[in-house]
Amino acid sequence: MAVRIDGKALAAKVKSQVAEEAAKLPRKPGLAVVLVGEDPASQVYVAGKERDCAECGIESFGHRLSAETTEPELLDLIRRLNGDPRVDGILVQLPLPKHLSEETVINAISPDKDVDCFHPFNVGRMVIGDPVFLPCTPAGVMEMLDEYEIPIRGKRCVVLGRSNIVGKPMAALLTQRDGTVTICHSRTEDMAQYAREADILVSAVGRMGLVTADMVKEGAVVVDVAMNRDGDGRLCGDADFAAVEPKASYITPVPGGVGPMTRAMLMRNILTAAALHQA
Ligand code: GUN
Repeated sequence: MAVRIDGKALAAKVKSQVAEEAAKLPRKPGLAVVLVGEDPASQVYVAGKERDCAECGIESFGHRLSAETTEPELLDLIRRLNGDPRVDGILVQLPLPKHLSEETVINAISPDKDVDCFHPFNVGRMVIGDPVFLPCTPAGVMEMLDEYEIPIRGKRCVVLGRSNIVGKPMAALLTQRDGTVTICHSRTEDMAQYAREADILVSAVGRMGLVTADMVKEGAVVVDVAMNRDGDGRLCGDADFAAVEPKASYITPVPGGVGPMTRAMLMRNILTAAALHQA
């Protein structure tokens, strides 16, 4: 039976470290949170991030814009936030309404305030192993693996999903730590065959029931990044948890696994930005 990795407890520990460090700075760190439109899931995520800021002694500046906001209007706001000395980090919640280009918006954020680590400058720095910020979700996963002393070097790591937010940077961080990494995606032929080889299996697809017990090697570490809703509206991951848990050595639950860690790593990135700006 797998050990359940307690993301909630580890996130609390990381956040208390951030709070302690933030209190030592001459000025309170600040995060600008930009939400365009009324997507209900995004509203919940943004509220959670603002709560985390309050807990960590970080000031948050909320900017809630209508779904009809034009790209020039949004870019103008970002330019003002780039120049605002109270703002150390800028978070534009994704997804954006269809008429706005996420790429254009991300590129407009000053790299030294890019606490999501989405800007190509920061992605490049991360991939070459000289990071300023780390991408929140993949960094949260690495923190969990380290906390539970799960070895990565030389291990077979399989990442399901190739998004810019999770799959690709997750593969980069595991590679940096000497994992042997395979990325599977929607066009992969026979994904199960790769998954079964994994010592560490990270699923970031967003399809309930994707990871079945027969896809998991006995003793594998299963990290479930997904946030799906089941038929009853309950949060669940990609893994068939009840079936996979007995086979795995470690497993992250949903909720209470990767989600809280993503938010905690955002707080750490804001602290990093503030320390850079106040040095
Ligand atoms: N939407 C889903 N995850 C994220 C995230 O980590 N950051 C932002 N800005 N938007 C998201």
